[in-house]
Amino acid sequence: MKLNIAVLPGDGVGPEVTRESVRVLRAVSDFCGYDFRFEESPVGGGASLEFGSPFPIHTRERCLASSAVLLGAVGGPQFDSLTDDRRPEAGLLALRHACGCFANLRPAIAYESVASCSPLRPERILGANILIVRELLGGLYFGEPRAIDLAGKSAFNTMRYSEHEIERVARVAFQLAERRKKKLISVDKANVLETSRYWRQVVTRVAKEFPEVSLEHALVDSFAMNVITYPTRYDVVLTENLFGDILSDETAVIAGSLGMLPSASVGGKIDLYEPIHGSAPDIAGKGIANPIGAIGSAAMLLRHTAKLHAEADSVEVAIEAVLKSGLRTADLLPPAERDKACSTEEMGKRIAEATVEALNSRMSYFAV
Ligand code: NAD
Ligand code: IPM
Ligand code: MN
Repeated sequence: MKLNIAVLPGDGVGPEVTRESVRVLRAVSDFCGYDFRFEESPVGGGASLEFGSPFPIHTRERCLASSAVLLGAVGGPQFDSLTDDRRPEAGLLALRHACGCFANLRPAIAYESVASCSPLRPERILGANILIVRELLGGLYFGEPRAIDLAGKSAFNTMRYSEHEIERVARVAFQLAERRKKKLISVDKANVLETSRYWRQVVTRVAKEFPEVSLEHALVDSFAMNVITYPTRYDVVLTENLFGDILSDETAVIAGSLGMLPSASVGGKIDLYEPIHGSAPDIAGKGIANPIGAIGSAAMLLRHTAKLHAEADSVEVAIEAVLKSGLRTADLLPPAERDKACSTEEMGKRIAEATVEALNSRMSYFAV
């Protein structure tokens, strides 16, 4: 198995957490005798300052020639003076667009061992396992026209969705629901927006191709309340770009910390993997960020791009085992206990070791 992974650490905690996801992938590659190669390229605010673009041409070429892209995070207040196409976030959107990955999978699982990290009562969240399927290349993020008018007295963005854009992401969501609890809820704002009424119409039609999956529709405002009130009710959540961005950060409350959540962006030429969190400027450079979202994204890479299901499972088993052992980064501890926190590196090393242990015990199980 050969994989060329384009590694884009980016800004803030991006490089810190990406180092750990690469460590875990190297551990898998070494143990299994695979040939995983990693090549780093600049992206985000740092790239914008150094190369004049947050997604330089050489980064783009490297990504498009790779088996998959592993990204850390972009952005930060030090880049606030950059405008329009030079903004770090514009680089991330250009990357997603270049890869063509229109379906962004954002799982949120309430692990028992960190249930107490959530401000929600454990009995509410235990058993929760939600998969948000967020449309990633349409809606307000990419709609044209968009501008701040010349006199600076108004601004506008365009929300637009084509049948094709809705159909393709809906099919990905239904296919995933078929392999899970066969329940899909499509979240929109159909009581107000034409784009949402159209979204509902197209999703309802696509649902006929998947008779085993039950489909429900919900309005985003009440869903935002219901998803944290009754998280165990939901399985696959299909939604458009902006709603998916907001709702996925909200589901981090169920998982205990924003640092826990991974993501995979699929469906295009090249798959892209990134934790859902940002550059976390408030903790960047301290070596204390939680790398589990980044490492979970590496597990998704093994599953979705490399089709190495046993290896992906082993990384996820390792994450759970290390959490069960009590190791915690600061975000997973109450303020009074943060002196007991481990570093980003320590968490990464322990998960890499536990991954090898999990792979080992799998091998001895099959050898019996
Ligand atoms: P953020 O996700 O960076 O941080 C929100 C809060 O969560 C902060 O308190 C932070 O310390 C904490 N947090 C985030 N990741 C963590 C981790 N791994 N471990 C522990 N704690 C963690 O969101 P923000 O502060 O609103 O945004 C900061 C910058 O990041 C902005 O420039 C934004 O545009 C950018 N951003 C980038 C991405 C991305 O690259 N995919 C995603 C979201 C935000
Ligand atoms: C995310 C981020 C990005 C988004 C920004 C940084 C462009 O918030 O990946 O969730 O809005 O998609
Ligand atoms: Mn976001």
